[in-house]
Amino acid sequence: MEKNLSKIVDLEKYPIHDLQSHKIKKIIEKCKAELENDSCSVIPNFILPNSLAVMRKELEQQLDEVYMSKESINAYLYAKDDPSLPKDHPKRIFMNRYNGYLNSDCFAKNSEMKFLYETEELLKFVSACLGISPIYRWADPLACHAYNVMEPDGILPWHFDSCEFTLSLVIQKPEQGGIFEYCPNIREPGNERFDEVKKVLDGDRSKVKQLELKPGDLQIFKGRFTMHRVTKIIGKTSRYMCIPAYVLDPWRVNTPEHSKAIYGKVLPIHIERNKVRSDGLAD
Ligand SMILES: [Fe+2]
Repeated sequence: MEKNLSKIVDLEKYPIHDLQSHKIKKIIEKCKAELENDSCSVIPNFILPNSLAVMRKELEQQLDEVYMSKESINAYLYAKDDPSLPKDHPKRIFMNRYNGYLNSDCFAKNSEMKFLYETEELLKFVSACLGISPIYRWADPLACHAYNVMEPDGILPWHFDSCEFTLSLVIQKPEQGGIFEYCPNIREPGNERFDEVKKVLDGDRSKVKQLELKPGDLQIFKGRFTMHRVTKIIGKTSRYMCIPAYVLDPWRVNTPEHSKAIYGKVLPIHIERNKVRSDGLAD
């Protein structure tokens, strides 16, 4: 069956196909203000229930292809220690992680999520909400629109994303836990603010915010500048998400180390494009 955006997104409520409409302009204005102040914005019930069921089914059919990893990482998604740094440097703090991805290269050609990610309508809407143009779909063939699976006891520790902008779409909620926590704009291009990062890693909660996401909600998030985590999954139900991502640089992909640790493999593109980041930040 041919895919159609109107069967995936609630276009009545959110006419992202018509960015000139008064309705969507108001929504964009609200998202933009939230993204500027808080580094994230949530659009409730963005995905239609039937489409959500299709997404859950396509992920569940491929659960055996999910790469689960238990490697401890630091907030910059590195698994390897750097003994040349002082002992208490945030890069030397490693945290338990138990998390999995259905890599984007495993998706079926007619995948609902892949279709949504590849629509110009979604790209232009997100770009308008961010107030940044152009943005690009991520060139990383494993990570660009991966499904995220957190099984019971799953945990995603404090980290920064290597892409600038992430969408989070909840497909299935756990019974308890799996709460998204974040510290808005704790670093910025050219300024890591290691002291502030260290405080949070040491347990300071003064800058930590929590967000409750429901299935069907769409979150737009600046994950490269805002450190975030997902608390432990409690109960028998896994947490399913999809995390399509957008970037400022259409060429860049994950580093080979990062790709190996998180997505379980390294492709030639990760080696060919392994260059220093133009924003001067670690990942
Ligand atoms: Fe993240």
